[in-house]
Amino acid sequence: MSAVAGAEAGGAAGSGETLADLLRAHFGHRDHLYGVLLAEMADDWEVGGLTHELLEGWEDAPARQFPQLRLLAGLFRIVLRGDAPQLVGFYPCLGGDHDPEEAWAAVRPLMAAHVDELRESLREAPQTNEPARTVGLLVGLAEAVRRSGLHRVRLLEPGASAGLGLLVDRYRFVGDGWAAGPEASPFVVEGCGAPGFEPEPFEVVERRGCDVAPVDPTTPEGAAYLTSFVWPWHLERHERLAGALAVAREVAAPLDRAAASAWVAQQLARPVDDGVLTVVWHSVTRMYWPAEETAAMEAAVAEARARVPLAHISLEHPLPEGPGAPVGMPQVAVDGVVVAETDHHGPPVRWTR
Ligand SMILES: C[S@@+](CC[C@H](N)C(=O)[O-])C[C@H]1O[C@@H](n2cnc3c(N)ncnc32)[C@H](O)[C@@H]1O
Repeated sequence: MSAVAGAEAGGAAGSGETLADLLRAHFGHRDHLYGVLLAEMADDWEVGGLTHELLEGWEDAPARQFPQLRLLAGLFRIVLRGDAPQLVGFYPCLGGDHDPEEAWAAVRPLMAAHVDELRESLREAPQTNEPARTVGLLVGLAEAVRRSGLHRVRLLEPGASAGLGLLVDRYRFVGDGWAAGPEASPFVVEGCGAPGFEPEPFEVVERRGCDVAPVDPTTPEGAAYLTSFVWPWHLERHERLAGALAVAREVAAPLDRAAASAWVAQQLARPVDDGVLTVVWHSVTRMYWPAEETAAMEAAVAEARARVPLAHISLEHPLPEGPGAPVGMPQVAVDGVVVAETDHHGPPVRWTR
């Protein structure tokens, strides 16, 4: 799931708008590959073309299911695995510099050749794992380590997607007047902001995550899956994701298929060595949880505080101020107190206190 995709989306199938309206409204322009493709697909759908066949059954799906993004990601995966060399030139992240206006003529026959696969890809909910969001964890973690005086950390992450956030100690971050993490890391985030930030040394003694739909970042399929949901013209995000995937192949971060609250309660019930700070951290996932999930996880965290040194760090969007209100920037909170905010995909960090 992509919160940002959600924020950018317009239209709503089932509310009087057609799928063509939904496709056209998603970007509302033809400035890049996906803007052009969705506009062309919308026209094609209206004349009963191949797009109509591919999206059959999706006419009344809620807009938040984003069939258009599922389709584009399915297409991207065909390109990523090397089965569409004629399209590579349209994907800037693969070095392409072709005019997007020329793309539809090449994409349509490819879609025709992969109807079953693309229909199958519509079953895959969009899911992004933004490793640069770990800068929020880093900032919160330094605060939690300072407060507790404990530098050995057990990291637990519900809603972890592929678990890339759990690799925070293996990433390199560079901010305004500070840097943290191994210089040789294949994952480097520049422009982290946060002037005056003082990183704290810490050691991750255990890392584990859960997700209702976990992705294995160590397999080619998992890596392609994650890559396929990053906009092809977001070069920096692709570079960072590739770096994080390289780290993930080196460092184990086990993931369980489970919903957040039950999993957190179960993990917090496990014994932990003295002198270890347990950190429950999550980013851009809470908005997808039912209200009971959030309440139950917070109850589990509150209960565990009596037994173990614990910090709760979140990087989550503030609740919208009303229906249709814009989605605010994600906020870093340590034990419920907001200390900073970040952009949707991570840096820079801006202090709010
Ligand atoms: C937008 S992704 C964010 C992933 C990652 N935390 C990040 O910041 O890149 C949201 C994730 O939350 C997961 N999710 C949604 N509801 C959940 C729940 N009730 N329990 C656990 N994970 C959930 C989704 O499967 C998805 O992987």
